[in-house]
Amino acid sequence: MTTPQQLQSLAIEIAREAGDLARRRRTEGVAIAATKSALADIVTEADREVEALIRARLAELRPADGFLGEESGAEHGTTGITWVVDPIDGTVNYAFGIPTYAVSIAAVTGDPAPGRWEAQAAVVFAPAMGELFHAARGEGAWLDGRRLAVNAEPTPAGALLGTGFGYDPTTHAGDLARVARVMPIARDLRRMGAASLDLAYVAAGRLDGYFESGLSPWDHAAGALLVQEAGGVVAGPAPSPGARSGLFVAAGPALFDRLFAAASANGTAPR
Ligand code: IPD
Repeated sequence: MTTPQQLQSLAIEIAREAGDLARRRRTEGVAIAATKSALADIVTEADREVEALIRARLAELRPADGFLGEESGAEHGTTGITWVVDPIDGTVNYAFGIPTYAVSIAAVTGDPAPGRWEAQAAVVFAPAMGELFHAARGEGAWLDGRRLAVNAEPTPAGALLGTGFGYDPTTHAGDLARVARVMPIARDLRRMGAASLDLAYVAAGRLDGYFESGLSPWDHAAGALLVQEAGGVVAGPAPSPGARSGLFVAAGPALFDRLFAAASANGTAPR
């Protein structure tokens, strides 16, 4: 049986190699390869190359595992383990030269659909910032040898929150209405452009909470385990693999219900 720690070690090794490749390609200049779901939803040559590297390493080292990647799709395995990969989360930042981008790799077991899978190991590596966040189920979330913990409570000034907006322009009005509902409990808002890093920052206590609608599974697979292993709570609906989902929320336990209620259109918390 492969332990979560073994999966974590492998994910760390591959994420480092992948992140170094992404950073190298960035210094050489970035070419937009195509647009995807909307004009603003881009993929660079580097996204494809980095995912191909991750996929090739996994195929060498764990050929019977499944794979679900942002750029190259899904493949079922026979071990019950699936690797959920965003080669460059924050592609628009990457294309514009903003260092807030990350390689996100999660190993999950069970049905490879968010809400039904159980994440076993996770890595979010931001190569331009030299930060590698990692977690193994039951073993905590870590950054540079430091164990991470979500913030117990927002300060009296309110919660420092992260969010993101969908690429599809028809979703922008809903995103902005959600921001308006949430602002009364916020001290301020950050829109960093990489959901995996938003979640890593919640795990690290750099943000009190995070909410976004329309994420894809690879955006949150690794970050969600970081938050849970740092003592936080995450919730999102369970769509089919590859589908963009409804509201996703992550926060420390003291804030979670209030944030979910404010962010959801009907004002109810999921628990
Ligand atoms: C995107 C980023 C962004 C979030 C979008 C994601 P990508 O991922 O995480 O912050 O707002 O919802 O799709 O396209 O850069 O991999």
